[in-house]
Amino acid sequence: MKCLIEMNGSMAGLDPAEIRSMQEAADLAVARLHSDKESFTGWVDLPETYDRDEIRRIRSAAQTIAQQCTALVVIGIGGSYLGARAVYELLTGSFAHLLPQKKPKLYFAGQNISAVYHKELMEVLESQEFCLCVISKSGTTAEPSIAFALLKDALILRYGKEEAARRIYAITDASKGVLRQEAEREGYETFVVPDDIGGRYSVLTPVGLLPLAAAGFDPEEFLSGARAAGQDRELMDQAREYAVGRNLLYKKGKHIEIFESYEPRFAFFAEWLKQLFGESEGKGGKGIFPASLNFSSDLHSMGQFLQEGTPCFFETILEECRPAADLCVPNSAGSPLAGKSVNDINRAALEGVAAAHRQAGIPMFRFELKEKISPQILGQVVYFFETACALSAYMMGVDPFDQPGVEAYKREMRERL
Ligand code: PA5
Repeated sequence: MKCLIEMNGSMAGLDPAEIRSMQEAADLAVARLHSDKESFTGWVDLPETYDRDEIRRIRSAAQTIAQQCTALVVIGIGGSYLGARAVYELLTGSFAHLLPQKKPKLYFAGQNISAVYHKELMEVLESQEFCLCVISKSGTTAEPSIAFALLKDALILRYGKEEAARRIYAITDASKGVLRQEAEREGYETFVVPDDIGGRYSVLTPVGLLPLAAAGFDPEEFLSGARAAGQDRELMDQAREYAVGRNLLYKKGKHIEIFESYEPRFAFFAEWLKQLFGESEGKGGKGIFPASLNFSSDLHSMGQFLQEGTPCFFETILEECRPAADLCVPNSAGSPLAGKSVNDINRAALEGVAAAHRQAGIPMFRFELKEKISPQILGQVVYFFETACALSAYMMGVDPFDQPGVEAYKREMRERL
């Protein structure tokens, strides 16, 4: 399979000699990632070695879910949530919930502690047949525990305890944790969050694949995309080049990376990138702060800062070269817009902003998705960024796969409870 994404680092403003100076560190990072000696690197070979039986079970559970419900509520937070939501929104668009659809629609819960949010969701579910997919590796995270308890009560009230148990799908640790114990006691269908894959690298495990399969997307298409990315020498060199570039810019005081897109459906993909990079690199007093902006909307609020504000950031532009639709601007819009393709105008915005920012000396990386968004291309994109992020963190001298700082606030919060 041909890889359909391409990175262009020519606008990052880096000198070839500087790039060469990082080659040894980059070689070491690549060797480390593929050494089979590092913890939590199970995702690296996953697209080749994944369990075919598990994929069959995911497909079969997805078929059952499609017969059982019109709404699948996916309960999870952080790495147990963002990947599925990012990919779902990229594949289904901004108004998926309002459109008629044969497959179950995904709703998300357990990613906040808002009573209002969960009450509103329960009201929406009153007019739908629903199932729950609860995802938590530890089984003890506060947000999904609260949401699961609330929604399970609603499920039991609607369908009775036995039928409710048939409508709950749990994705958790293979043997540990309260969710595993409950699932076994109550007879929920379960899938495993692999031990050697951390939350933010888990999209291509049941954590992402089961909800996406239930929404009608074949799990093996994501995995085949990821496999193609891993086997594509040129693309993996680009991942390494991007990791090198990020580290060089960081050393030059560019401590913020802004992920930007001109298509609204990328908003949650940027959220996934923020967790991936933020949690992988932000430790030991180091790390590039990942931020995101949606253009052209945010140009009208942040455009001034980007052009003339503190030069502490670089930009990473996610470009969809073949959006799923186009429209022609009617004559009533007047010159110079009338008669033009909306996509062409959006592209003119992108090129215009890139030119203006280049004049202001802002370093930029550009990623082009050369074909329409599909599960295969998203498998490639996910694998590309996971690889680049791990390499970048190694080069920065931090462990890409732990998150020691997350415990601190959780401990304080527990004390207050
Ligand atoms: O990436 C991570 O490790 C975190 O974001 C976790 O996924 C998140 O805290 C949820 O944890 P759990 O799956 O244990 O509920």
